[in-house]
Amino acid sequence: MQRFKNKFALITGGTNGMGFATAQQFINEGGTAIITGRSKETVNNALKKLGGKAVGIVSNAGDFKDLMNLQSEVRKHTQTIDMVFANAGYGKFAPIEYVDENQFDELFNVLVKGPFFTVQQMLSLMKEGSSVIFNTSVATEIAMPNFSIYSAAKSAVQSFIKNFATELTERRIRVNGISPGHIKTNIFNNTGLNSEQIDEAVKNIIPTIPFKRLGEPSEIANAVLFLASEEASYIHGAEIKVDAGISVVR
Ligand SMILES: NC(=O)c1ccc[n+]([C@@H]2O[C@H](COP(=O)([O-])OP(=O)(O)OC[C@H]3O[C@@H](n4cnc5c(N)ncnc54)[C@H](OP(=O)(O)O)[C@@H]3O)[C@@H](O)[C@H]2O)c1
Repeated sequence: MQRFKNKFALITGGTNGMGFATAQQFINEGGTAIITGRSKETVNNALKKLGGKAVGIVSNAGDFKDLMNLQSEVRKHTQTIDMVFANAGYGKFAPIEYVDENQFDELFNVLVKGPFFTVQQMLSLMKEGSSVIFNTSVATEIAMPNFSIYSAAKSAVQSFIKNFATELTERRIRVNGISPGHIKTNIFNNTGLNSEQIDEAVKNIIPTIPFKRLGEPSEIANAVLFLASEEASYIHGAEIKVDAGISVVR
C-alpha cells in the first residue's frame, strides 16, 4: 500500500518505540517522516535505520523554547504537514508522598505542554484533510499505584482530542487519539529502574494483560496510520484503545 505517497508526517519522539515504528511504516507507504528526539545521537541513530525519506530534528518536547522553534525547523524541509503524531514522552512513577514539584513539572511539561504546543505550532502548515493523532495511555482508564501524575497528564492529553477536534472542525483537520496498553518499548528506561527491576515489573504486568503479552510498537503504528489515512475519513474526536482489552476485560 502507498497510502502516504508524497505526504509529510511530523512524529515527535520518533527515535524509538511507537514513534519510530510509525515513521518506518509511514515511509514504507510512500511518505516522508520528520522525527524528533532529545539528542543528536538518538536522532542520528534513528535516521540511519529509517533511510533517505526521514528527516531528524533535535527538539525537547518539554522545553518551551524548542517547541517555539519547531515550526521554523520543520519549514526547512516542508511547508505542508499531513499528519502530526504527538507522541514524545515517558513516564516517571512514584507513590504520592514521594512526588516532588520537579517530577510533577517535568511530566506535565513533556506530556501536556509538549503535545499542546507541538500541534499549535504545526497548524499553519496543515491543510484541509490533514490529521492530528495524540498518544494517551491505558493509564487514563485504569488506576495503578504510582501512576497519579502520569495518569493526570495523559488525561489532559485525552481532553485535547475533544477540544482540538471541536476547534479544528471548520478547517477540516481531523483530530483523534490512540490509547496504548503495555507496549514493548524503552518506556521503562527513563524511570530510574535498573534492568532487573524492569524485568520484574514486566513479569508482573504480563499476567494482567488479556493476551498475556506486551504489544508491539508496530501494532500501535497500524492504528496511528489508519487514523491518518483516508480509511478514517469519517473519524474525528475519537480515541482508539490499542491495549489487548486490558481496559475493559475483567
Ligand atoms: N510503552 C508503553 O507501554 C506506553 C503505554 C502508553 C503510552 N505510552 C506513551 O507512548 C509514547 C511513546 O513512548 P514509547 O513507549 O514508544 O517509549 P520509547 O521507546 O522510550 O520512545 C520514546 C520516544 O520519545 C522521545 N522522547 C522522550 N522524551 C522526549 C522529550 N522530552 N523530547 C523529545 N522527545 C522525547 C524519545 O526520544 P530520545 O530517544 O531522543 O530520548 C523516543 O523517541 C509516550 O508518550 C508514552 O507515554 C507508552
